[in-house]
Amino acid sequence: MEEKVTESDVAFMAACYERFDPSAYLQYYYSPEEAHLEREDSFMSWILACLHRAFSEGDVRGEVLVDIGSGPALYQVMSACEVFNKIILTDFLEANRQAVRLWLQDGEGSGMDWTPYLQKVCELEGRRSSEWTEKAAELRKVVTNIVTIDVNLPHPLPHDVLPPFGADCLMSCFCMEGASPDMAMFNRALGNIGGLLRPGGHILLIGALEETYYLGGAGVKIPVLPLNEVQVYNSLKDNGFSQISLEVCKLPQNIKSDMEDMSGVFYAKARKN
Ligand SMILES: C[S@@+](CC[C@H](N)C(=O)[O-])C[C@H]1O[C@@H](n2cnc3c(N)ncnc32)[C@H](O)[C@@H]1O
Repeated sequence: MEEKVTESDVAFMAACYERFDPSAYLQYYYSPEEAHLEREDSFMSWILACLHRAFSEGDVRGEVLVDIGSGPALYQVMSACEVFNKIILTDFLEANRQAVRLWLQDGEGSGMDWTPYLQKVCELEGRRSSEWTEKAAELRKVVTNIVTIDVNLPHPLPHDVLPPFGADCLMSCFCMEGASPDMAMFNRALGNIGGLLRPGGHILLIGALEETYYLGGAGVKIPVLPLNEVQVYNSLKDNGFSQISLEVCKLPQNIKSDMEDMSGVFYAKARKN
């Protein structure tokens, strides 16, 4: 962790997000045609299954969970909301925070129908998919805050958002590699968010493998740090995490997209020392 991170690297990444468009982003990656929830071999089905497993194994528990870089998305906390009493969603951009706020208020005007995701997670939990309305209500109940975050700051969250000992669990999906243009920044950002977690708490990371860009809106190409699973493992270890497990899902050729160039998705679970 000797590499140097310059202020211009941080400013460059912030500038990349100025034209991020939450509605376009949701359409590109989470619309039914793109997410392929009906296919068991789609990366979204794999991610939802990983998260379901993470929150049903029994060791990831506590009061407070923080989702880092939630964007305008909610799929990632649909299993967690059955286990944690308080979920804090976070994002760098007000437009993204507003998108989740709108859905949590009543769904109207959010531009996104999360029903198929809620149904799928109900099925993973062994419930009838028709029980999705109960899950939606649970989600609306346990998401207590939607706050600003910058993973590149030593204290990424505003003061007083967390209890004194920190969160019981952190999760983050497709954020860290898109907020860090190089490995030095990634390592440092992981250390920054690690500071939000209490000792013994878990981190769940989901992210893209070997991705160099994704589209955050029409013509908005956002650079991504191309990562492999060894780099993710080492960064977790070097930042004080142990019991690290890492799984990889390679994307089937026939559902590759031209809106990003990742080769697969990783899921990492680890415990803070
Ligand atoms: C690819 S999106 C992922 C959103 C969501 N977690 C998902 O799974 O779709 C990356 C997110 O990281 C956020 N982000 C960018 N720079 C950040 C930073 N420095 N700190 C925290 N979040 C950041 C962006 O605003 C964006 O919402």
